[in-house]
Amino acid sequence: MSEIPFRIAATDGAARTGALVFPRGEIRTPAFMPVGTAATVKAMYAGQVRETGADVVLGNVYHLMLRPGAERVAELGGLHRFMNWPHPILTDSGGFQVMSLSSLRKLDKDGVTFKSHIDGSTHRLTPERSVEIQRLLGADVTMQFDECVRLPAPPAEVERAMRLSLAWAERSKAAFGTPQGRALFGIVQGGDAPDLRKASARALVDIGFDGYAIGGLAVGEPQHVMLAMLEETTPELPAGRPRYLMGVGSPDDLLKSVARGVDMFDCVMPTRAGRHGQAFTRFGKLNLKNARHADDPRPLDPESPCPAARDYSRAYLHHLVKSGEILGMMLLTWANLDYYQRLMEGARAAIAAGRFADYAAETTAGWEAGDR
Ligand code: GUN
Repeated sequence: MSEIPFRIAATDGAARTGALVFPRGEIRTPAFMPVGTAATVKAMYAGQVRETGADVVLGNVYHLMLRPGAERVAELGGLHRFMNWPHPILTDSGGFQVMSLSSLRKLDKDGVTFKSHIDGSTHRLTPERSVEIQRLLGADVTMQFDECVRLPAPPAEVERAMRLSLAWAERSKAAFGTPQGRALFGIVQGGDAPDLRKASARALVDIGFDGYAIGGLAVGEPQHVMLAMLEETTPELPAGRPRYLMGVGSPDDLLKSVARGVDMFDCVMPTRAGRHGQAFTRFGKLNLKNARHADDPRPLDPESPCPAARDYSRAYLHHLVKSGEILGMMLLTWANLDYYQRLMEGARAAIAAGRFADYAAETTAGWEAGDR
């Protein structure tokens, strides 16, 4: 472990606001981390991602090892230079994507062998290789190699994956060593079983990590189960270390998870929804494909600081989406990432002011009221 400082400036109930301090810059928390799977936040320039207020983006071991290859990225100066993003990068370790994207997976206690979804070639990931790839990419935050099961799953299967992930946590930590200025996060597993969640969290804390992710959620269970698992897990984690809920979520998921002590999030939702014609706004989620927008001269939000949300009419966005124009995806991705960053900025300010519950209630009321 490298002891990356995590400075908590204020707490409000279980919610916290602060900053995780890396040599490349600070991650202000609660933080939303845009997903840059293949060394790009799809449809966005790197500088534009930064301008929305993102402090960190995600990269994926699984995608980057297959194409263009971790050794190639390292020879080109690392992922930051490769994608022109000089700020912190968190890389996911690959196990989750192997399970969801590759074919012919074969899991053993040492790792997983799989066929690429791109060309069918055979590859292998182990905790040691995943950590090595993350080092080659130059990750500021390295994630342990883990196994995540989709829910619902038989309890014995959930427990087996949780125990395997713990063994891989130890091996990931040994492989990581003690590099300066870089962080290693463990990942809590345990599905929808409170006892397994607690056991996983406690064992990870015994091993000791710079931060703790909560994995294996938003994988098919209802929101109330996810929130219940957070309530079981976060009290077991050290207050002075960051907590990262992986792959979550909707704006509502984010507010409810911040209220339960989560500091960091990533999700493809704002970017993927943007490419599919959907916009997240203060007034709720809009589907720009819908014919009701065809004659609407209003922008998504006249008060937004984001040009995509403020300067283009809904009628124009509807036209772009219906025509399959690239600009439609670009504008909606931009507006959505900006909205997510404004939501987190508002959360940070509200926690600092001791009014997070009011902020969450007002924000939710805005979504429910709509704007017509
Ligand atoms: N992304 C979303 N959930 C998970 C998880 O459980 N593990 C990993 N490594 N990545 C995730």
